[in-house]
Amino acid sequence: MDHYLIQGGNPLHGEVEISGAKNAAVAIIPAAILCHGVCRIENLPEISDTDTLLHILTCMGARVRTLDRGTVEIDAADVRLDPLPDEMFEMTRRIRASYYLIGSMLGRFGAARSTMPGGCNFGERPIDQHVKGFTALGAQVEVGSGFITARASSGRLRGSHIYLDKVSVGATINIMIAAATAEGLTVIENVAREPHIVDLANFLNSMGADVRGAGTDVIKIRGVSSLHGGTYALIPDQIEAGTYMAAVAAAGGAVKLTNVIPKHLDCISAKLREMGVEVTEFGDSVLVRREGALRNTNIKTLPYPGFPTDMQPQAGAVLCCANGISSLTEGVWDNRFKYIAELRKMGAVVDVNGRTAVIQGVPRLTGAKVRAHDLRAGAAMVIAGLAAEGVTEIEDVRFIERGYQDLVGKLRALGADIRCVDVPEEETDPAGINAG
Ligand code: EPU
Repeated sequence: MDHYLIQGGNPLHGEVEISGAKNAAVAIIPAAILCHGVCRIENLPEISDTDTLLHILTCMGARVRTLDRGTVEIDAADVRLDPLPDEMFEMTRRIRASYYLIGSMLGRFGAARSTMPGGCNFGERPIDQHVKGFTALGAQVEVGSGFITARASSGRLRGSHIYLDKVSVGATINIMIAAATAEGLTVIENVAREPHIVDLANFLNSMGADVRGAGTDVIKIRGVSSLHGGTYALIPDQIEAGTYMAAVAAAGGAVKLTNVIPKHLDCISAKLREMGVEVTEFGDSVLVRREGALRNTNIKTLPYPGFPTDMQPQAGAVLCCANGISSLTEGVWDNRFKYIAELRKMGAVVDVNGRTAVIQGVPRLTGAKVRAHDLRAGAAMVIAGLAAEGVTEIEDVRFIERGYQDLVGKLRALGADIRCVDVPEEETDPAGINAG
């Protein structure tokens, strides 16, 4: 079992290259099965979620070739719906984005079968809006015994008008993928506007689809009979970039982040500036510097262009290091504060009331043994560990590795004292410190 050990207190200095966007990659890989021709995807992050999805595609009969770091070719000519091996369903159960296979199988075959998706646990994660979309496109959808099956009554989906009752990234993506090869026009209203929604639209269009309006709250898709192959480079990861910005804010120092789109970081940069962090934008890089004390602020997460929920735990760790009282409100998920209990082990003073955490900054966090409850909670632990006095040991780092390419290597190159150690399973949490 891998753990991270961090000796806190080193400011960060230097340059870090941001990888391709995880949440774009996990949508675009499944969408590649719509293409009759080879899809070359560049700037793909090397993380376990993308490895899992590529493996799932090979289980379906796709040929996947890794060309060099960050570039793969997917040839989905021989992809099939039946038979699908049990091994594939073990993987689809583990990750959230596996539900995009429903949209892509429906688009390719007019039928789909997969498991209910896994992913980070922050309360209920319904899929009613996905089902609403597929149903409107003419599919009969059944959810039961851990599986989702769907079948287009007429063999091919038909364009439709869909209003999402909730702004959902996943439902927007799934319906876009399914509608790309449906017959006729699909209009989706009240859609999510995250950068990876635009990236998916650009990918689909570069493969021959006709998707308009991504980035606004109405998307129009004129279905085409099939997509062709091509080459597409993913956008940089907004949340990975934000995580390094937060790390500099908490630990101090000056770091240049390269391969970023500064516009996507506006909401994060604005909050960090309020806290006294300098953020200077260049064409495709930002310089983040923090020398003086951090000021308190209030943050509420919202769908894009609001402050991202996927930066909420990292922001929580930074606010623990600021002077005064801050408030942090979660506007997307019901239960995304589990990591607060871990921060308290490091001396954080936080009261959680419903969806709001009130954080009293402390002069210094102290190292402790903590757990990564999920991907971003784990990132928050790393940030707290970098800023803390003493040694922090983080368990369950496999969650972190689902979404951050070489976090340890990139932080070490910036001067952090962090390493990954293999701890035999029986030695993990010997006193049951983190049980339950
Ligand atoms: N919702 C519904 N019904 C649905 C779908 C969503 O009520 O059918 C609700 C959810 O319960 C939630 C809200 O709508 O309250 C937003 O959920 P959304 O569908 O936008 O989330 P998601 O697609 O399941 C993606 C990211 C998450 C990120 C959210 C919000 C992927 C694979 N996951 O999840 O990313 O938190 O959007 O931005 O893209 C992460 O990267 O750490 C992560 C968890």
